[in-house]
Amino acid sequence: MIVITGASSGIGKATAEVFALMGWHVIGTGRTPERCDAAEEEIRAIASPEARVDFLRGDFTEMSDVRRIAKEIARLTDCIHVLVNNAGGVRDGYYRTSEGLEATFATNHLAPFLLTRELLPQLEYAAKDSPVGTVRIIAVAADGHASCQAMNWDDLMLLEGFATTEAYSQAKLASLLFTRELDRRLSPMGIVAQAVNPGCVGSNFASHGDELIQDAMARSPCTPPEHPARTIMWLATSPEVGEQGGRYFRDLAEIQPAPQARDDRAASRLWMESERILETIGC
Ligand SMILES: NC(=O)c1ccc[n+]([C@@H]2O[C@H](COP(=O)([O-])OP(=O)(O)OC[C@H]3O[C@@H](n4cnc5c(N)ncnc54)[C@H](OP(=O)(O)O)[C@@H]3O)[C@@H](O)[C@H]2O)c1
Repeated sequence: MIVITGASSGIGKATAEVFALMGWHVIGTGRTPERCDAAEEEIRAIASPEARVDFLRGDFTEMSDVRRIAKEIARLTDCIHVLVNNAGGVRDGYYRTSEGLEATFATNHLAPFLLTRELLPQLEYAAKDSPVGTVRIIAVAADGHASCQAMNWDDLMLLEGFATTEAYSQAKLASLLFTRELDRRLSPMGIVAQAVNPGCVGSNFASHGDELIQDAMARSPCTPPEHPARTIMWLATSPEVGEQGGRYFRDLAEIQPAPQARDDRAASRLWMESERILETIGC
């Protein structure tokens, strides 16, 4: 059983198709209604007869939506073997949500942090009956994390002096630090957390960004979403990546993230800061 966020397009949709084809129970999530409808239909069309496909809709800039989706998932299954925290991307500007959060940090970091926390009972339940290391949580991170030298602890959501690319880089550095701390906390239960760098992928990614990002993406050679989906499938299922978590992968191989993404003190601090921010909005 696999939960894949951001399955309404790009990497998440391609990953959902792989698992539906393999006969898994797939729960996908998406935001934009028409993309969700189309993706749900296409994933179902490709699914093996023994597969089951469920599709949920919600906006991950809103933590209330993340919690609602977690509850809907809990109604569909009591057992999750793989969680792929993929939903995310860039924005074309500064957006403050109804809960007072900055949208890039909310979607790329706080939403996966909260969703993972809310789905822990289902992940732990799966881990009880599964061989050690087979229950996995995979974060879709990005090369861009390296441009952020350190988390801005005084202003994690960059509310003072926001810039689109800086916000994205910091949020993806947060994805890697979160994966590190998550793995440290969950490995005693036999759950492994890993992160993936998808590379430059031809998806809807750039369309959500500003001109700078759109130009940069237009100049970069991109792979199709099926390419990182293959690495995500490998990370979710292969025995060799179930042994030690907190690692970073690209193209079916381990890679080294920037030194600031390997900072255990920052990883632990980010966990506490994330809990604190969520507490301020009642989550
Ligand atoms: N493409 C690249 O070159 C690249 C490189 C490095 C990392 N990544 C990362 O890969 C992941 C997948 O991106 P992609 O390239 O597949 O882009 P994509 O085609 O735009 O897909 C992003 C997915 O995330 C969902 N999503 C985005 N914001 C959301 C929100 N606020 N609430 C709920 N769902 C949301 C989208 O939903 P809707 O479409 O339904 O709105 C879509 O399903 C992202 O985390 C991105 O940062 C991509």
